Amino acid sequence: MATNITWHHNLTHEERSKLVKQNGATLWFTGLSASGKSTIACALERKLLETNIQSYRLDGDNVRFGLNKDLGFTEHDRNENIRRISEVAKLFADSCVIALTSFISPYKKDRDEARKLHNESNLPFIEVYVDVPLSVAEERDPKGLYKKARQGLIKNFTGIDDPYEAPEKPEIHINTHEQSVEECVDTIIEYLKKEKIIN
Ligand code: PPS
Repeated sequence: MATNITWHHNLTHEERSKLVKQNGATLWFTGLSASGKSTIACALERKLLETNIQSYRLDGDNVRFGLNKDLGFTEHDRNENIRRISEVAKLFADSCVIALTSFISPYKKDRDEARKLHNESNLPFIEVYVDVPLSVAEERDPKGLYKKARQGLIKNFTGIDDPYEAPEKPEIHINTHEQSVEECVDTIIEYLKKEKIIN
């Protein structure tokens, strides 16, 4: 734990927002493996960028190649994974970018901490529950991980022998087995417009 450190301010968030003509926010995608978090976040990122809205995606697998390469899938490591991502997403949101985080983030407590961190800085935090029945995620199994988990080759696999605590009151709830990717993206864009985060 570092001591004798001080937080440096330059611009306020409002000043920055005026200068860059954009609001920042974090869209926190959560859901089972193969629920469609990354697919929707990718499509949304592209759509926002095409309309000149700065957006950046932080994705489970990618972040685990670098920043979080020291972390595995124990409860402790998942907590730390989400804690670090929350801090990074908050910095993106503070820089007036729309941060899109797509992590399973199975524990409610971790997601609530991420929300609290954003709330303390008056930055919008939008929880997007990417909902899909386990049976559908398991059928999709794009990486063959569910199969391996069922065979006991992967331990602590979310939904199989590790918990997923579904959000109770997410700002946005999408069902990827009933809605197309475009419909999901449109739902999110509508929400961002309604909340005046984007025009
Ligand atoms: S977490 O729970 O939020 O810390 O997980 P996350 O960082 O999103 O990483 C999930 C991706 O890691 C792969 N993977 C596993 N997922 C769940 N449980 C276990 N044990 C596991 N081992 C590896 C898997 O590819 C997840 O990717 P997605 O994109 O969610 O399918």
